[in-house]
Amino acid sequence: MKAIFFLHIPGNLDLLKAQLATYPGTLNPSFLAPGFSTFKADDVAYKALKEKPPFMALAMGEDASRNELSTTATVWVENKELIFSHHGEFSYRDKKDQIWQGLCPEFEKLTKLATIELPPLAPSRAWLKIAQAFSLFPKARSGHALEIGSSPGGASYFLRQQGLELVGLDPGEMDPLFKTDQGFTHLKKPVQDVQPRDLAKKFSLIAVDTNLPASMSVAEAIRVASWSGDVLKEVFLTIKLPAPKLISTLESHKRALRKLGLKTLYKQLPSHHREILLYGYRS
Ligand SMILES: C[S@@+](CC[C@H](N)C(=O)[O-])C[C@H]1O[C@@H](n2cnc3c(N)ncnc32)[C@H](O)[C@@H]1O
Repeated sequence: MKAIFFLHIPGNLDLLKAQLATYPGTLNPSFLAPGFSTFKADDVAYKALKEKPPFMALAMGEDASRNELSTTATVWVENKELIFSHHGEFSYRDKKDQIWQGLCPEFEKLTKLATIELPPLAPSRAWLKIAQAFSLFPKARSGHALEIGSSPGGASYFLRQQGLELVGLDPGEMDPLFKTDQGFTHLKKPVQDVQPRDLAKKFSLIAVDTNLPASMSVAEAIRVASWSGDVLKEVFLTIKLPAPKLISTLESHKRALRKLGLKTLYKQLPSHHREILLYGYRS
């Protein structure tokens, strides 16, 4: 048996386990702590995990063990959130102050994402979700963007910081800072009521973060996105996952987004709670 470990959002172990249950072979939990869980995998499960690491984990590693001699941690949990120090290799401090170390090749990249700082003026913490996604998928971006579920404006604030002209679609109020922003237009209605005549432009980027049920949010996003045709280059869709049974619906959301001619992948971000990013992109 091989020793595997995962770093994950502390409140999402049930979601990670639901995804792990879809892998072939045998995978048994051995040490489960907030944000850090170790498992024993047989050869079949190990091969499958290496080929396709679970997207409900922030990072996967191997051969974690307690290091009695070390007192330095680079990741730990505070207020039910993983905290990353800015430098160093993977070294997790559990609640008994024991230090766990192991091989985690993605740890440096994850630390870089997790330590992006929220600007004081950002209207909400949703700024972090889109900032982390942009950092993970860097590319030159220009043109018009649409945000569905834009209130109060954390992600909109980030998109405007990137110089994208933006339409924010939300029945809720936007932060007052957008009142004087010439590059931002608020379309104050639910997405279900939006018709092509409401949106004069084609969008190169669409970000979606509504608190509608995921299937409705995805269907509405695709309906609106289809009006942009090939101009559309990227979709950032936040899918809410309140319950583990919803893991089994994720493949269908992906298939739906692919019908727009986009490639797709799922990614859990350090700023996520019970949700995941479905990223659609044209290569
Ligand atoms: C998680 S918040 C969005 C946070 C926002 N993206 C930010 O960066 O601050 C979810 C938003 O979805 C909006 N929403 C709910 N139902 C909606 C609908 N039918 N159409 C558009 N937006 C909707 C809510 O008004 C709420 O502002």
